[in-house]
Amino acid sequence: MIKVITYGTFDLFHEGHYRLLQRAKALGDYLIVGVTSEKYDMERGKLNVVDPLLTRMENVKKTGFADEIIVEETSGQKVNDIKKYNADIFTVGSDWTGSFDYINNFCKVVYLDRTKNISSTMLREQSKKILKAGIIGTGRIANRFIPEAKLVSGISAQAVYNPHKENADKFAKRWEINAYDDLETFFNDVDVVYVASPHQTHYKYVKAALEHRKHVLCEKPMALKREETEELFDCAKEHNCILLEGIKTAYCPGFEKLMGIACSGTIGNIRYVDACFTKLEGRDTRELTDLKWGGSFTELGSYCLLPVFKLLGDEYENIRFDVMRDENGLDIFTKASLTYPKGIATAVCGLGVKAEGRLLIAGTRGYIVAEPPWWKTTYFEVHYEDPASVDKYSERFLGDGLRYEIKDFVNMINGDSKSGFKLTKGESAAMAEAMERFLVQEGREGK
Ligand code: CTP
Repeated sequence: MIKVITYGTFDLFHEGHYRLLQRAKALGDYLIVGVTSEKYDMERGKLNVVDPLLTRMENVKKTGFADEIIVEETSGQKVNDIKKYNADIFTVGSDWTGSFDYINNFCKVVYLDRTKNISSTMLREQSKKILKAGIIGTGRIANRFIPEAKLVSGISAQAVYNPHKENADKFAKRWEINAYDDLETFFNDVDVVYVASPHQTHYKYVKAALEHRKHVLCEKPMALKREETEELFDCAKEHNCILLEGIKTAYCPGFEKLMGIACSGTIGNIRYVDACFTKLEGRDTRELTDLKWGGSFTELGSYCLLPVFKLLGDEYENIRFDVMRDENGLDIFTKASLTYPKGIATAVCGLGVKAEGRLLIAGTRGYIVAEPPWWKTTYFEVHYEDPASVDKYSERFLGDGLRYEIKDFVNMINGDSKSGFKLTKGESAAMAEAMERFLVQEGREGK
């Protein structure tokens, strides 16, 4: 008996998939089909899959060609499967020609001609309206948004706004999109807005976009006052729009996993969260020269407060800031200490002082530690009283990581509300309140 094995995502099952399976079956007597799990697709950066795993397996089954259907969960699985099932032939479409030659060491590899003019990608694009995205701001992060958005289906960056026309033009030329210096025209030409302008301008741009009924993804910190954040969320509700604060950590798979484990009771009740993020900056950057809005806490505080508020909540009894300032008065190192009825936390940020940059979560049964860059979570460990007992977890964090938040933003617009819990309105408001208290202490608020 000749056993054949093949793999695929088989999303939005189409003729190309049918023909591939038909020919795969004809290569032998018994066909095993591996269908990728959601988690595996996520890990390898395929963020646009529409059908759930069960639907995709069901569709493969309906063809009647598969004698056995298995789930592909990890990247190294193919060779193990080939050995386990004693497969004689491994086959995939010709779009993979060359990629699986190494499998010749284990069984015969056959690349079947791909069916022309059809793909899941094509069907996805046809089935959904592509959201036209406009970017406000032309700085570093705005430049990261475009290549990351290209990896998410259902959205396409097409416009950029900057009140200084020459900056908008330069940015637009680089990315081959349209430049605007008139906000009204800009809003008229887009469906969704990504706000990546300087912190203090977020509030006014987000508000204006929402009033034009545009969905908004806003870079952190969305606002520097609780009242403003709450007002923006109310405004989003009133205009039936999605509003999301873009803290990339909140949306990345590794951090989601870490939060899931921390909340699962594995380390008991959480009593201490210590989050540190430092990044040495050049002295002439905006962060270290903008005397009103710059400094380490407004720049990095959102990252460090995220695990604190997610794990201990926002009903702290007290928040205190210890600050190291530069000669110009801006904080180059800030330690926020929070006390709760049953817990304590520290959020430490630095732009001019380097520290260990770790995330530590301590509980009544054990602790979790994630080394830098934990804000792009790829690896963490769970430790217990017995030092020999350590659980290790890893996840991928692809590219600049904005793709995860963009994907959730698009999903939420398309009616999938599952993503909303990754960063809640309450958490965004609590972060803004912490920023506000900090700026008041520093005597910068209301200046
Ligand atoms: N396939 C094919 N002809 C097509 C599309 C896919 O022969 N027109 C084959 C692929 O080469 C692979 C299998 O079908 O062996 C499953 O492919 P999958 O990646 O799930 O489908 P695509 O349509 O290529 O998906 P995407 O557009 O998301 O890459």
